[in-house]
Formats: sequence, structure tokens, C-alpha cells
Amino acid sequence: MCGIFAYINYLVPRDRKFILDCLIKGLQRLEYRGYDSAGIAFDGGNESPDVIKKPETKIVKKKGKVRALEEELACEKDMKLDIEYDIHCGIAHTRWATHGAPCAINSHPQRSDVNNEFVVVHNGIVTNYRDIKKVLESKDYVFESETDTEVIAKLCKYVYDHRENEDMSFRELVEVVIAQLEGAFALCFKSIHYPSQCVGTRRGSPLLIGVKTKGNLSSNFVPILYRDNRGREFQDDVAYNREGTDSAFKRSFSTTDFEVSGDIKAAEYFFASDASAIIEHTNRVIYLEDDDVAAVMDGCLSIHRMKKEEGESMSREVQTLKMEIQQIMKGNYQYFMQKEIFEQPESVINTMRGRVNFKDKEVILGGLQDHLSEIHRCRRLLFIACGTSYHSAIATRQLLEELTELPVVVELASDFLDRRTPIFRDDICFFISQSGETADTLNALRYCKKRGALTVGITNTVGSSISRETTCGVHINAGPEIGVASTKAYTSQFISLVMFGLVMNQDRISTRSRRNEIIEALENLPNLIKEVLEMDDDIKKLAEELYEQKSILLMGRGFNYATCLEGALKIKELTYLHSEGILAGELKHGPLALVDKAMPVIMIIMKDSMYTKCQNALHEVTARGCAPILICQKGDTESQSKASRVIELPGTVDCLQGILCVIPLQLLAFHTAVLRGYDVDCPRNLAKSVTVE
Ligand code: AGP
Repeated sequence: MCGIFAYINYLVPRDRKFILDCLIKGLQRLEYRGYDSAGIAFDGGNESPDVIKKPETKIVKKKGKVRALEEELACEKDMKLDIEYDIHCGIAHTRWATHGAPCAINSHPQRSDVNNEFVVVHNGIVTNYRDIKKVLESKDYVFESETDTEVIAKLCKYVYDHRENEDMSFRELVEVVIAQLEGAFALCFKSIHYPSQCVGTRRGSPLLIGVKTKGNLSSNFVPILYRDNRGREFQDDVAYNREGTDSAFKRSFSTTDFEVSGDIKAAEYFFASDASAIIEHTNRVIYLEDDDVAAVMDGCLSIHRMKKEEGESMSREVQTLKMEIQQIMKGNYQYFMQKEIFEQPESVINTMRGRVNFKDKEVILGGLQDHLSEIHRCRRLLFIACGTSYHSAIATRQLLEELTELPVVVELASDFLDRRTPIFRDDICFFISQSGETADTLNALRYCKKRGALTVGITNTVGSSISRETTCGVHINAGPEIGVASTKAYTSQFISLVMFGLVMNQDRISTRSRRNEIIEALENLPNLIKEVLEMDDDIKKLAEELYEQKSILLMGRGFNYATCLEGALKIKELTYLHSEGILAGELKHGPLALVDKAMPVIMIIMKDSMYTKCQNALHEVTARGCAPILICQKGDTESQSKASRVIELPGTVDCLQGILCVIPLQLLAFHTAVLRGYDVDCPRNLAKSVTVE
């Protein structure tokens, strides 16, 4: 939640226009993380940096989307845009409000005082901000916003004004400040007392740093050198050649001081909440760990550890992002969500690539391989997640029970934590999360880890907290998902869990034909998804009939109960209509009272073991005067005769049918939201990555 972006150029001359454009573009890439207000801070004044006497920081903030901030900047007619900076630090933020309503004053950067001596952008929540505020107020600090963040900026000034050591560095100052903070945060700081320097740190919220040493640089450029813990220095090109790989290369760096430094003549650094804001500048990134404090000064990046836990990693990786810039662009689509729905034939292939051997009917999940015997011996399997990710576990629970013959428990992370659910050393706990940063899921992971359970991550984000903190895991490889509503991540999570079930079942002879049936269906799945996507125009017509309704009910059971939950979630989060996913078996126990002639009902009836029971539900509904919209298998004339409208889908094996059934619902939610005039990629009140509890 919220997006941080900072851009630092060192001996790479950039004019103010370039810097502002870069900050704005960075925010646009992160806008899906929060979009109720945005702001930036950069060097102010219209004097050339060579003659400037007193550094100044200018802040521009605006309620609304990044576009509004861009317009606000365009109104700054007196601001010279062609001033060139050899060295400069700009910080930026797009907000999802937690403390205080969305408005310019509450948006970030927050400042220490009217002179903007220290400015800060923040993701997360400072839980003890009231106590700090009280102390600062007693020392005559005057607060202007309702945010928790403002205490951080003011605390910086307090520490600076009361420092005993005149030479206190910016990094040291920030370390003193964050030692006072409780809660979760990622932070970036800028100060007129430390011109052109930037300090970034994290605890519980992601922050990474892009390092650019090539391209668009002056000819006398000397690449950054990496220094290992024995003091040896590596020029990065040499290091790459030496490793002979384009994947992440590892160097061992001392835990307390990791430096990207050396004979640096020019460099650019990009701090960001996620890689999507960095990839267009560089594919080389460093993911910060909790309590790392990273500082850029005189073109050098140093990372200092606040704490050193026993057994913690002694290295930082400069990783090469595999992401392509096209993956985070809309391409020919109008919306990211639309693009992501239509990417599903390829994203499911990417999830299975190198894992499912269709010829030999074998499945291998490299990330779990070393832990399989432990997983086989476990007491039970727990799947813990939120929202759509939770639905992927519900969707596959029945199959996992069947294939593993183990007790399978599916938990909503928040409720799991609220109940302080008993966890045992021989439990295997899975954490499913597209972003890998969801606070409840991450907290549940830490809770289970403490109790000695083996933890497995199912995530879509390399380098995310969940992927780093779990013992092992599966990367779903769906590619970046920018639309707030999760679509392709759901189908890829679904397939990842199916693959896990197949891995667990690999050696069982008695179920070989079932396994083969599923693997064959997986192979054909991308083609069937394409077939379903061709129904887009029909679904749009259906949306035209439904978009003015007030409520939509979705009913199904068995393998498609989760489809109903997921479809209803998509409808409510995008269209703001009331929508409920109802287990058809529960109809008579209450929800049937909602059904009448006027109530729009979507029923999913597939030719699986639930067919007869679903037919019963259909009778119960039609007997109340309702003619539901039916999602059914091609040629199921019996069900179709009672429906007002029919969406006929190709059939596949029962346990994968949910993937095909959910796609018309994704499209329906999408078209309905567009017809209602809503921003599909940024639904109100929501954000992509929910990093607060
Ligand atoms: C889905 O459309 C939602 N936006 C939301 O439910 C999401 O799935 C949930 O917040 C969990 O996110 P995660 O997968 O990143 O952990």
C-alpha cells in the first residue's frame, strides 16, 4: 500500500524537467499501490546549483491520482525547468490513506518544519506515533497533518538540532530516528542539511534500489565497483562475465556494511516500493532487508544493518530483474486488468513451464524438491491467504485432499491470527500471496515460523517478503499483475496448487489414471482459456443487461464454490454492486430468501459429481420465479431450458473447470465496471498490495 519512488543522479547531468518527469513516471508505475493523493519533493529555487547559497526543498502535493499532481506541477509557471543538476535527489509518493483523509496536507512527503529541512515519504503505519507526537508537541513542534508520518520528519529535525556530533551523517541520523519507531514502514528521506543525499530504510514494507551505471552516461563513465567482504573490488561487467550468467549473481558482503562504491564517476539510483517503477531504468536491483539503512552519498550506495540477528544472511544480492518493460505496459489494451485477463493463456503456460512434463506425465517443483519427504510426513497441510489468494486455496482444497490424502485446512490470514490458531512443528503451512507482501499473510507466516512449522510460499513476486521469509516455495510466474483486481494471478495460483497436489501424488500407482487425466487437461488448458476469451463480446452484452442492477448472486458448489466467491469478489471490488458467492448446498438455510423474479442470479452448473445437486438448486431457484443466468458446459440442454441466458463453456477435468468458469466472471466484472464508469485498474478505497493489518 502506498508507493515510494526516489531518484538520485550523481554526475549524470539532468535538468529539472527530466527529474520531475522521472519522479512522476515512477509514481504512475506505482499508482496501483495507492492512488488517493500524491506528492514529490525536489531541490527548489531557480538559481543554478553552482551558485546556490542555501539549499531549498520544494514540495508539491495534490489530492487525487498522479495525473492531478502532474497538472499541479504544470501550473507552477514560475519554476524554471531547464536548470541542470549534476547531483540531485528527488523523492515521491502515491498514497493510500490510513491516518487522515486523502488531501494535500495529509499526503507525502511530510515535512519537519516550514523550511522543509527534512522531508520523508512513508509506506506502512507507525503504531507509536501518538506517543512521539506528544513528546514533540511538548517541545513546541507544531503538527499540520493528521498522519502518523509527520512525526518521522519532525523527529529528524529534533535529532539533528540536538546532535552532539557535528559530523553526524544522514544515515546515522535516520538510524536514531527509526530506532524510536514501532510498526511497519518503508521510508525515504531527503534533507537540505545533506544536499543530494538520500536515505532509505524498511521494516515490514518492501523497498528496493535500482542501480544504473550504464547507458545514457557520459563517455568518461567508470562503472561502479563492488567490494566484497575481503576488500576485493569487482567491476560489474567483469563480475557478470566471471559468473557467466544473466541471473542474480551473488557476492558476499559484510552484514554491517555493504557498499556499492569505488571509483565512481557517474551513477543513478532508484528507490522504489516495487520493481515495476525501476525496470525501465535498470534491471539491476538490490532488495533491502528489514532494518537495512541504505544511503546514497557522493554517488556511493552503502547499506548498514541496524541489527544483526544470529544466523542471518551475510550477503546482499545485486539481482537481475527478469521482468520486461512490456510486461508493465498496457500494450493494445485500455486497462491493465483487461490485458491481464487476456494474458491467461500464456500466464498459465509460464506457471507450468519447466515443471510439468506432459510427455512423461511428471511434475517437478524445484523449490519444494528438498522438502518433499518432510511434507509427506506432516500432520496436516494449512493454506493461509487473503482475498483472491484465499479463494485459490478453496478452489483446490478438494483436489489436494484427494491427491495428498492429508487433512487440508484453508485459513483466512486475518482470522487465523485473531484466533491464535494452534500450530504444530509437524504442520506444513503454505502462504499464498500474489504480492508476497500482504501484512496479514506475512504475520501469519511469522507466527507459524515461530512455532516451528515448515513454511512454503506461493507468490508471484520475486524478492517479496513472503518469498524470502518462507523456507521454500513456488513462484507462480504469472508476470507482473498491475490491475488491483487479481485475475491471472488467481489462475496461476490455482495451477501451482494443482501441481503441488500432483507432486505429492507422484508415486501412487492406484491414482495414476486420475493423475494422467489432470496432466492431459493441464496441457490443453491454454487452448480452452483462449476459447473462453473469445466469448468476450457475449459477456459484454450480458454486462449491458446487468450493469444497472443493485445486486448479483452467484451460486455453485463442489469445485465451483470458490469460483462463485471469486466472481462475487471481482464484481464487488470493481463495480461496487452488492454481490455474494453462495454455496448452493446452503441455499435452503437462508440465502434462498433473497431470491425472487427480480434478483439477478448467476448459477454455475458443470457436468461433474455435483451435477444433480446443482440441478436441485436450479429447481429451487426457478420455483421462486427466478430465471438465472447459467454458466454451464456446452450442450447441457437440460440446465439451459430453465435459464434466462446461457454462457456455454468447454468442458475439462472437474478439478480444473473452475479456471474456465472464473474467466467469464472476470470479464463480466470488468465490463460492468466500465459501463458504470469506474476506474477498473484502481477501484475506490483499495490498493494492490495490502501492507497494513
Ligand atoms: C483481489 O482482486 C484483491 N484485490 C485482493 O483480494 C487480494 O487478492 C488480497 O488482498 C491478497 O493479496 P495478495 O495475493 O497480494 O496477498
